[in-house]
Amino acid sequence: MIVSKEDQKINSDEKYKKKVTAKIKELQKKRNAIILAHNYQRDEIQDIADVRGDSLALARAAKDIQQETIVFCGVLFMAESAAILNPEKLVLLPVREAGCPLAEMATVEKLRQYRVSYPDAAVVCYVNSAAEIKAESDICCTSSNAIKVVQSLPQKRVIFLPDRNLARYVAQHVPEKEIIIWPGFCITHMRVTEEEVLKAKKEHPEAALVAHPECEPEVLRHADCVTSTGGMFSYIKSSPKNEFIITTEQGMLYGLKKENPDKLFFLPSKHLICANMKLTTLGWVLNSLETLVYEVQVDTVLREKARGALDRMLAVT
Ligand code: 13P
Repeated sequence: MIVSKEDQKINSDEKYKKKVTAKIKELQKKRNAIILAHNYQRDEIQDIADVRGDSLALARAAKDIQQETIVFCGVLFMAESAAILNPEKLVLLPVREAGCPLAEMATVEKLRQYRVSYPDAAVVCYVNSAAEIKAESDICCTSSNAIKVVQSLPQKRVIFLPDRNLARYVAQHVPEKEIIIWPGFCITHMRVTEEEVLKAKKEHPEAALVAHPECEPEVLRHADCVTSTGGMFSYIKSSPKNEFIITTEQGMLYGLKKENPDKLFFLPSKHLICANMKLTTLGWVLNSLETLVYEVQVDTVLREKARGALDRMLAVT
């Protein structure tokens, strides 16, 4: 039998994955470690995860963990949340450079200026933010509970940071509050245009359009469902529809296809890739378990303050 070069490469890739996965599993036992992975991670990382989910599911999972070590396959703010909720555990981020440009768009100095300008306002920060920002906020939220969190507040005015599109979406749904919108944005969700979404709808007229609230309002206004990555799984599972246009990071399609083998999924854009989420590879996870890097630590005072904001969110939802 003649085996093409392409097949040889696929076979060797598969062999490599099996070998590294077996080593990861072995070390995981030795280190008493749990692997958490966000829905945007590479397919092979999703396959080795003990828990895969959205930001809220992972924050919840992090809270109830028995293992001594957490390997967080995601980006820094997620691993920081796990470290805040589990101060006695060793939290590892396999790739130190896996950051979130959106989270980096908020600074403590600017947030304090906002507080001075709007002294009567509550501060709600999206979990896509650094521990320092969480520590300065009254409460956190994720894309799946942002509306509920804002509705739960006694204040009429709310400073919402750092994502402007999620803030606008919340403002639409909670008109009784005044939302002060921070001008941050997600560089991945920004890339999908209204034109691309309309083209996808034309090509797949039977499909439901499911979009993440970090997309631009021109995109969101065409959506049948606007929700978090976890919310997308629930919506699709219970939908009578068979086709879906998924307007969020392309890593979502792997889990969606696995859980819904009879349904069809389409991406409206080739550019829905978060480079930071893709930095984590099997090799880096193995390295992380072998050498116990990179430990994510949050200063005690900061941690207690940030934890308050996270706990208040978890109590609301
Ligand atoms: P969720 O998984 O909570 O929807 O958030 C994803 C995210 O961080 C988008 O940038």
